[in-house]
Amino acid sequence: MIARRDLAARVASVEDLTRTCFRLELTCREPVVAVPGQFGMLRCGAELDPLLRRAFSFAGVRQVGEGWVVEMHIKEVGKGTTLLRRLAPGARTSLLAPLGNGFTLAGLSGGRLALVAGGIGLPPVLFAAEVLAAEGRPFDLFFGAARASELYEIDRLAAATAAVGGELGLCTDDGSRGEAGVVTGALERRLAGGREIGRVLACGPDPMLRALGRLATARGLDAELSLEEPMACGVGVCLGCVVELEDGSLVPSCKEGPVFPVRRLGERWRS
Ligand SMILES: Cc1cc2nc3c(=O)[nH]c(=O)nc-3n(C[C@H](O)[C@H](O)[C@H](O)COP(=O)(O)OP(=O)(O)OC[C@H]3O[C@@H](n4cnc5c(N)ncnc54)[C@H](O)[C@@H]3O)c2cc1C
Ligand code: FES
Repeated sequence: MIARRDLAARVASVEDLTRTCFRLELTCREPVVAVPGQFGMLRCGAELDPLLRRAFSFAGVRQVGEGWVVEMHIKEVGKGTTLLRRLAPGARTSLLAPLGNGFTLAGLSGGRLALVAGGIGLPPVLFAAEVLAAEGRPFDLFFGAARASELYEIDRLAAATAAVGGELGLCTDDGSRGEAGVVTGALERRLAGGREIGRVLACGPDPMLRALGRLATARGLDAELSLEEPMACGVGVCLGCVVELEDGSLVPSCKEGPVFPVRRLGERWRS
């Protein structure tokens, strides 16, 4: 894995995905090599406020000509993300990356691989789906959001799952598209229907991840959760992102994670 660096980047494009989420593409001259689940700490603007960079997962990384394009999907929730949405193409920024670990995509001994995303948890799951599809490894993908207008990148998800004969299951809390109800319900129904699931890889809001943690614990499923603990430094120094493990120890999520096997995590994620 390539060591982290502070990469000079320029904004290539900013494009709305939903009412609140947008795609930000950055170009870097230096190579960016990352695996699904890794993230970067991005400077939000030219001013000193906000001082701290913000953490964003990679939705994809690709080489274009002599440069590298980093794709991120960002939900506008506060000052930093609002500034990022307003950046114009060509604006300069910097990205500390790649950071953290990634999902375990290889080594499935039996059953199917299930990718699960909730809302703005989609970026690392989409990245994983497109890597798996390119490698010809089968998987099913379940994507849930509050309502139809918050589901996005459906064509890319459909193409990736179709490439390997997998299922794309869409869910909305209000039933406006796909199955009605939470995305973990779709997974439970597949399990109840007899589908053998060998591993679950997931990213989404805390309640979704905790529900998956409970499900995985109850059924003895191999599952990995990508946590989004608020981060200040991203490199294990400030200890602002600590996560409690099953043995009671506290570890920085930015270095030991953000992806953790459910069996390593403390009670908060399993009950
Ligand atoms: C490893 C990692 C990967 C992430 N990947 C993505 C991604 O791909 N796309 C994306 O949109 N966001 C992602 N996030 C969350 C993102 O970092 C925050 O939304 C962002 O820092 C908010 O910055 P802000 O200045 O706009 O908001 P602030 O003004 O800092 O906060 C606004 C509101 O958002 C809440 N908030 C801040 N950080 C988080 C967080 N980590 N989780 C939940 N609520 C938070 C605050 O409590 C507050 O209520 C990720 C976080 C981590 C740790
Ligand atoms: S964000 Fe500083 S230790 Fe993880």
